[in-house]
Amino acid sequence: MNLKNIQIFAHRGSKGTHPENTMAAFKEAARIGAEGIEFDVHLSSDGEMIVIHDETLDRTTSLLGYVKDCSAQKLKTADAGSKFSEEFQGEPIPFLKEIFDWAIDNTMLMNIEIKTDKLPYEGIEQKIVDLIRQYRLENRVILSSFNHQSIEKVKKLAPEIERALLFEGLPENIEEILSAKKEAGFHPDRNSLTETINHYAKKLGYKVRPWVANNKSDIIRLAEMDVDVIMTDFPEKAIKILKAW
Ligand code: G3P
Ligand code: CA
Repeated sequence: MNLKNIQIFAHRGSKGTHPENTMAAFKEAARIGAEGIEFDVHLSSDGEMIVIHDETLDRTTSLLGYVKDCSAQKLKTADAGSKFSEEFQGEPIPFLKEIFDWAIDNTMLMNIEIKTDKLPYEGIEQKIVDLIRQYRLENRVILSSFNHQSIEKVKKLAPEIERALLFEGLPENIEEILSAKKEAGFHPDRNSLTETINHYAKKLGYKVRPWVANNKSDIIRLAEMDVDVIMTDFPEKAIKILKAW
């Protein structure tokens, strides 16, 4: 769906209408015609790549404690749907592999956030890169992180895979950082993105993909700035707004 060249990425799937970071949310994003999904990856105690937002299981699942302290086998027993709504009872926590198994049969773009900003997850970059290559999804993924050292690691491991710098708030020297790093994507929070920074980043060749715009005024403001992607918890609503714009 081409909305004046702005793509819609469903943040954590379709987080506003479905349990975040679950296959139900990703399938909803596909159903309503979003071009991309955004999701977050952590490692289990036995090194499996697990798709969940928080470091802990408490907020969104039936289990408690840290993802990093839980085995893959135990994580498979989690219910990641009921806390959102009874309608989604039994919806499992997806493993990265399961998303790729689904994605190989469609055209969905995937913004994979490497969640190394709070916990280190030794070797996570290599594991993600290996799986992307195994599935030959190099041209369908964008790897992003608030931890720019993770992005540097990906750059060394897999220069062919698109990378993006994530920011929450922008440092004073953002222009210096953007011009020095020369990654493909710039992912600022929506409130920090000004006309000036957007223009600067675009001039350097960055794809600008702000997160997360859910209300009409934010969506229109970003569209008027001609960003490349709008990440939203409500992709269906965002598409309707942009179609009418
Ligand atoms: O990747 C953009 C956005 O998802 C970053 O924030 O906390 O939702 O992972 P968060
Ligand atoms: Ca994220």
